[in-house]
Amino acid sequence: MSDSITVAADKAETYADARRRIDSLLDGETDWIAAMATVACELHQSFEYYDWTGFYRAVSDDHLIVGPYQGPHGCLHIDFDRGVCGAAARTRETQLWPDVSDAPDHIACQSSTQSEIVVPITTPDDRLLAVLDVDSDTLGVFDNSDREHLEAISQALGEQFAETEVL
Ligand code: SME
Repeated sequence: MSDSITVAADKAETYADARRRIDSLLDGETDWIAAMATVACELHQSFEYYDWTGFYRAVSDDHLIVGPYQGPHGCLHIDFDRGVCGAAARTRETQLWPDVSDAPDHIACQSSTQSEIVVPITTPDDRLLAVLDVDSDTLGVFDNSDREHLEAISQALGEQFAETEVL
Protein backbone atom coordinates (compact mmCIF):
# COMPACT_ATOMS: atom_id res chain seq x y z
CA MET A 1 0.00 0.00 0.00
CA SER A 2 1.24 3.49 -0.74
CA ASP A 3 1.53 5.92 2.17
CA SER A 4 -1.48 7.94 1.09
CA ILE A 5 -3.67 4.82 0.94
CA THR A 6 -2.45 3.74 4.38
CA VAL A 7 -3.23 7.19 5.80
CA ALA A 8 -6.71 7.14 4.20
CA ALA A 9 -7.45 3.68 5.60
CA ASP A 10 -6.21 4.69 9.06
CA LYS A 11 -8.36 7.82 8.98
CA ALA A 12 -11.47 5.88 7.99
CA GLU A 13 -10.88 3.34 10.74
CA THR A 14 -10.24 6.02 13.36
CA TYR A 15 -13.41 7.87 12.34
CA ALA A 16 -15.40 4.62 12.49
CA ASP A 17 -14.10 3.93 16.03
CA ALA A 18 -14.82 7.50 17.16
CA ARG A 19 -18.29 7.33 15.63
CA ARG A 20 -19.08 4.11 17.49
CA ARG A 21 -18.08 5.70 20.79
CA ILE A 22 -20.02 8.90 20.05
CA ASP A 23 -23.17 6.97 19.08
CA SER A 24 -22.96 4.89 22.21
CA LEU A 25 -22.27 7.86 24.52
CA LEU A 26 -25.09 9.94 23.00
CA ASP A 27 -27.63 7.13 22.90
CA GLY A 28 -30.82 8.59 24.42
CA GLU A 29 -29.11 11.92 25.23
CA THR A 30 -31.31 15.01 24.93
CA ASP A 31 -28.97 17.70 26.27
CA TRP A 32 -27.34 19.55 23.40
CA ILE A 33 -24.48 21.03 25.45
CA ALA A 34 -23.57 17.60 26.83
CA ALA A 35 -23.63 16.23 23.29
CA MET A 36 -21.37 18.96 21.87
CA ALA A 37 -18.91 18.54 24.75
CA THR A 38 -18.79 14.79 24.24
CA VAL A 39 -18.29 15.00 20.47
CA ALA A 40 -15.52 17.61 20.85
CA CYS A 41 -13.78 15.40 23.39
CA GLU A 42 -14.05 12.15 21.43
CA LEU A 43 -12.89 13.66 18.14
CA HIS A 44 -10.06 15.64 19.73
CA GLN A 45 -8.71 12.59 21.54
CA SER A 46 -8.92 10.44 18.40
CA PHE A 47 -6.69 12.39 16.02
CA GLU A 48 -3.20 13.72 16.67
CA TYR A 49 -3.65 16.31 13.94
CA TYR A 50 -6.72 17.87 15.60
CA ASP A 51 -5.36 20.89 17.49
CA TRP A 52 -8.63 22.77 18.10
CA THR A 53 -11.91 20.90 18.05
CA GLY A 54 -15.22 22.42 18.93
CA PHE A 55 -18.47 24.15 18.20
CA TYR A 56 -19.73 27.64 17.46
CA ARG A 57 -23.43 27.99 18.28
CA ALA A 58 -25.74 29.89 15.93
CA VAL A 59 -27.39 32.17 18.49
CA SER A 60 -29.12 34.35 15.87
CA ASP A 61 -29.32 34.51 12.09
CA ASP A 62 -26.03 36.39 11.88
CA HIS A 63 -23.92 35.56 14.92
CA LEU A 64 -21.97 32.61 16.35
CA ILE A 65 -20.78 32.17 19.94
CA VAL A 66 -18.21 29.60 20.96
CA GLY A 67 -19.51 26.38 22.49
CA PRO A 68 -17.79 23.36 24.01
CA TYR A 69 -14.29 22.83 22.64
CA GLN A 70 -10.90 21.26 23.27
CA GLY A 71 -7.60 22.98 22.59
CA PRO A 72 -6.23 26.49 23.16
CA HIS A 73 -8.73 29.34 23.54
CA GLY A 74 -10.72 30.25 20.44
CA CYS A 75 -12.49 33.46 19.42
CA LEU A 76 -15.62 33.91 21.54
CA HIS A 77 -17.86 35.66 19.00
CA ILE A 78 -17.91 35.40 15.19
CA ASP A 79 -20.37 37.18 12.87
CA PHE A 80 -21.65 35.23 9.87
CA ASP A 81 -19.84 37.63 7.52
CA ARG A 82 -16.43 36.85 9.04
CA GLY A 83 -14.03 33.95 8.90
CA VAL A 84 -14.25 30.35 7.80
CA CYS A 85 -16.81 29.58 10.52
CA GLY A 86 -18.97 32.50 9.39
CA ALA A 87 -18.79 31.23 5.80
CA ALA A 88 -19.97 27.77 6.89
CA ALA A 89 -22.86 29.32 8.84
CA ARG A 90 -23.81 31.69 6.00
CA THR A 91 -23.62 29.19 3.14
CA ARG A 92 -24.51 26.11 5.18
CA GLU A 93 -21.80 24.31 3.26
CA THR A 94 -18.68 22.64 4.58
CA GLN A 95 -15.58 24.81 4.37
CA LEU A 96 -12.46 22.72 3.73
CA TRP A 97 -9.15 24.60 3.68
CA PRO A 98 -6.03 22.40 3.53
CA ASP A 99 -4.03 25.65 3.66
CA VAL A 100 -5.69 28.46 5.64
CA SER A 101 -3.45 31.05 3.99
CA ASP A 102 -5.62 30.44 0.88
CA ALA A 103 -8.80 31.29 2.82
CA PRO A 104 -9.53 34.97 2.14
CA ASP A 105 -11.14 35.73 5.49
CA HIS A 106 -9.62 33.16 7.82
CA ILE A 107 -9.59 34.42 11.43
CA ALA A 108 -6.31 33.36 13.05
CA CYS A 109 -7.32 32.71 16.65
CA GLN A 110 -4.05 30.77 16.92
CA SER A 111 -1.13 31.72 14.66
CA SER A 112 -0.08 28.04 14.57
CA THR A 113 -3.18 26.97 12.60
CA GLN A 114 -2.35 25.69 9.10
CA SER A 115 -5.51 23.94 7.97
CA GLU A 116 -9.17 23.97 8.89
CA ILE A 117 -12.50 22.29 8.24
CA VAL A 118 -15.88 23.66 9.34
CA VAL A 119 -19.13 21.73 8.95
CA PRO A 120 -22.60 23.24 9.52
CA ILE A 121 -25.06 21.37 11.74
CA THR A 122 -28.63 21.81 10.58
CA THR A 123 -31.87 20.17 11.64
CA PRO A 124 -34.04 18.31 9.11
CA ASP A 125 -36.31 21.39 9.04
CA ASP A 126 -33.32 23.53 8.05
CA ARG A 127 -32.50 25.33 11.26
CA LEU A 128 -28.79 25.99 11.80
CA LEU A 129 -27.81 24.83 15.29
CA ALA A 130 -24.05 25.30 15.19
CA VAL A 131 -20.91 24.70 13.17
CA LEU A 132 -18.34 22.06 14.01
CA ASP A 133 -14.86 23.55 13.59
CA VAL A 134 -11.57 21.64 13.53
CA ASP A 135 -8.20 23.39 13.18
CA SER A 136 -4.85 21.72 12.68
CA ASP A 137 -1.27 22.91 13.03
CA THR A 138 -0.39 20.52 10.18
CA LEU A 139 -0.57 21.79 6.61
CA GLY A 140 -2.77 19.93 4.12
CA VAL A 141 -4.06 17.45 6.61
CA PHE A 142 -7.82 17.67 5.97
CA ASP A 143 -9.30 16.01 2.91
CA ASN A 144 -12.56 14.55 1.65
CA SER A 145 -12.32 11.69 4.13
CA ASP A 146 -12.53 14.18 7.03
CA ARG A 147 -15.33 15.99 5.24
CA GLU A 148 -17.34 12.82 4.69
CA HIS A 149 -17.05 11.59 8.27
CA LEU A 150 -17.56 14.97 9.95
CA GLU A 151 -20.60 15.64 7.75
CA ALA A 152 -22.06 12.27 8.77
CA ILE A 153 -21.55 13.08 12.47
CA SER A 154 -23.03 16.56 11.97
CA GLN A 155 -26.05 15.21 10.15
CA ALA A 156 -26.71 12.70 12.94
CA LEU A 157 -26.44 15.51 15.53
CA GLY A 158 -28.86 17.68 13.56
CA GLU A 159 -31.37 14.84 13.50
CA GLN A 160 -30.95 13.84 17.15
CA PHE A 161 -31.19 17.46 18.39
CA ALA A 162 -33.85 18.62 15.92
CA GLU A 163 -36.03 19.90 18.74
CA THR A 164 -33.23 21.84 20.43
CA GLU A 165 -33.58 25.53 21.11
CA VAL A 166 -30.19 27.08 20.42
CA LEU A 167 -28.59 28.10 23.72
N1 SME B 1 -10.40 30.09 12.22
C1 SME B 1 -11.80 30.28 12.46
C2 SME B 1 -12.05 30.92 13.79
C3 SME B 1 -12.29 29.98 14.90
S1 SME B 1 -10.97 29.47 15.67
O1 SME B 1 -9.78 29.40 14.95
C4 SME B 1 -11.13 28.41 16.85
C5 SME B 1 -12.44 31.09 11.35
O2 SME B 1 -11.76 31.64 10.48
O3 SME B 1 -13.65 31.19 11.36
